[in-house]
Amino acid sequence: MRLHQPQTFFMTGATGFLGQFILRDLLARGQRIVAMLRGPTAEASARLSRQTRDMGSPIDAFLESGQLQIVSGAFPDQLPECTWGRTDAIINCAASLQLFTNSSGDPFKTNVAGVKAMLDWADAHGVTRMHAVSTAYTCGWNSGTILERFHQPEPKFQTDYEKSKWMAEMLMAEWSRQAGRTLTVYRPSFLIGDSETGYTCQFAGFYQFARLVSVLKRQYADPKNGSKTYIPLRIPGRPEDRQNIVPVDFASKMIAEIILRPQFHGRIYHLTNPHGPTNDMMKRIYEEYFGLYGGYFADPDEVIGKCSHAESLLWDQYNLLTPRVVHTPQFDMTHTQEAMQASQTEFPELTPERIFMLFDFAAARDWGRRTGSKKESAAPAACGGSPEP
Ligand SMILES: NC(=O)c1ccc[n+]([C@@H]2O[C@H](COP(=O)([O-])OP(=O)(O)OC[C@H]3O[C@@H](n4cnc5c(N)ncnc54)[C@H](OP(=O)(O)O)[C@@H]3O)[C@@H](O)[C@H]2O)c1
Repeated sequence: MRLHQPQTFFMTGATGFLGQFILRDLLARGQRIVAMLRGPTAEASARLSRQTRDMGSPIDAFLESGQLQIVSGAFPDQLPECTWGRTDAIINCAASLQLFTNSSGDPFKTNVAGVKAMLDWADAHGVTRMHAVSTAYTCGWNSGTILERFHQPEPKFQTDYEKSKWMAEMLMAEWSRQAGRTLTVYRPSFLIGDSETGYTCQFAGFYQFARLVSVLKRQYADPKNGSKTYIPLRIPGRPEDRQNIVPVDFASKMIAEIILRPQFHGRIYHLTNPHGPTNDMMKRIYEEYFGLYGGYFADPDEVIGKCSHAESLLWDQYNLLTPRVVHTPQFDMTHTQEAMQASQTEFPELTPERIFMLFDFAAARDWGRRTGSKKESAAPAACGGSPEP
């Protein structure tokens, strides 16, 4: 395989937040994509066209030219017939982000049974190269420095979602042990909007918290006291801990760069933030953006379950906050940094201005409520595991 030689990828999850960006980046590099979408092909194709127009990278020309083909399918038991010829590799980006098991059996149904079906499909069609999107939080409660390796023995998990993604990694690791097969695993932490445009179609975690702060401001604002509102609330957490938030375009760019460089295949990549903003920096950003002051850091044990009215607006609703407040692992990025160097990719620094731009984009869409699209109204509770503080 030559660098950037056009190949055919069978991709799942292209309508997802990250999937749209991976699709954009690979199509722009001349790659042929066969995207498996849920629902009848015409409907699914129209949905993807609408979404990619919203993000500013319409796919219509690629559909017309045949560089992008839509096929219908769903995990675990509706995988498509392979009617498009040879598949060079699979990009598995579909997942259920459901934190705890629901009545349809997700997240395990999509993330574990789905991956098993995908591996069987690969075997049935002679595909030996797999690119799989996982999560940094397959590390569960493991602490210290988390290496770009499979986590054994099984860690303790905070959510079913994390466990399901770990189980999927184990299935794929087993599959890749057979000679001739190559598995590359991408583990993002918490994804946020595009670092250049602010675009997001997912409003969980980072945005969910900002929306709660905006509600707090509205409830306590008193026009007689000027634009700044004093709310003496305790913030559970340590000011110096860092938040592992990653712009979605960085994650997709790295995935595309690695996919196009076979010498980087067969490894695990932490697509995490090498120097995420501290809780203290985020506090100052929230205060400036929303016009607030008076918050201070406190021991989570003193706050959670013993909240004042103002505090409960934030921490009761944001009830999955606690684990990530007390659990802030360091993600080793050795493999990712090698790939960043080879592809001359820099991590987009999360300056206050950039975070304001991300907030502006989301606020203009009423934090995900404005357009009423499937993704936005159904914003899941979290994506990378649990919501970040
Ligand atoms: N977002 C984050 O912060 C984050 C962080 C770490 C890791 N990740 C990982 O990144 C990947 C992409 O996540 P995302 O944020 O893009 O998620 P997302 O926006 O919820 O998109 C999920 C995608 O998977 C598809 N899908 C869900 N269930 C399916 C099923 N049973 N069969 C076929 N397709 C199915 C969805 O299709 P529909 O459009 O039909 O629903 C959608 O295209 C996932 O592997 C996730 O675990 C995400």
